[in-house]
Amino acid sequence: MTDAVGAPPLDARAYREVFGHLPTGVVAVTAFDPTGEPLGMACNSVSSVSIEPPLVLFCPARTSTTWPGLRDAGRLCLNVLAEDHADVSRQFARRGADRFADLSWHPRPAGPAIDDAVAWIECEIEDEHPAGDHTIVVARVASLEANEGRSPIVFFRGDYGKIATAAQGAAVTSSKSNANATHAPQEENE
Ligand SMILES: Cc1cc2nc3c(=O)[nH]c(=O)nc-3n(C[C@H](O)[C@H](O)[C@H](O)COP(=O)(O)O)c2cc1C
Repeated sequence: MTDAVGAPPLDARAYREVFGHLPTGVVAVTAFDPTGEPLGMACNSVSSVSIEPPLVLFCPARTSTTWPGLRDAGRLCLNVLAEDHADVSRQFARRGADRFADLSWHPRPAGPAIDDAVAWIECEIEDEHPAGDHTIVVARVASLEANEGRSPIVFFRGDYGKIATAAQGAAVTSSKSNANATHAPQEENE
């Protein structure tokens, strides 16, 4: 069997497996329900979209039971998870779990902010576009803050890892620390 362009149908498992090779960060998308209870779900489908106006997107699954509550809240806080947040990510993806159990957070106007996240992006839902079994949600950024000194978690092939920055001696060139650098920083350290 082939589809409209003559290609064989894609296997969902292969789709997931291959896209698992695209490393991403992990974001806990949070909000308050009408009674002030915190809500949240883990998402790695987050991307910046536009600077003027400031827009961000993420893609909740149509099957998500948390998304309708977030959607009703209208305002969201995107918490960029840190390298030691693998358990937080798992907790925010576990259906029926108390996602804020044992979690240190403080309220922001748009939603709960996880204390030691890498960054917090507060936004308001502006648009929704149906996209297959997901929805592309576009939100306008109201405020944002980075937590300097914290490093992000990386989701890759279904597992969690971390990145090593130039400052930590990894083989990446830092244009900030040496504008004329033409060699990898580990050579500088030798
Ligand atoms: C690393 C990671 C990234 C995820 N990214 C998304 C995503 O972008 N969109 C989505 O709908 N679900 C994503 N999930 C799954 C949801 O977090 C999870 O399925 C969902 O919260 C299930 O519970 P719910 O029915 O309460 O929403 C991700 C899970 C993990 C662990």
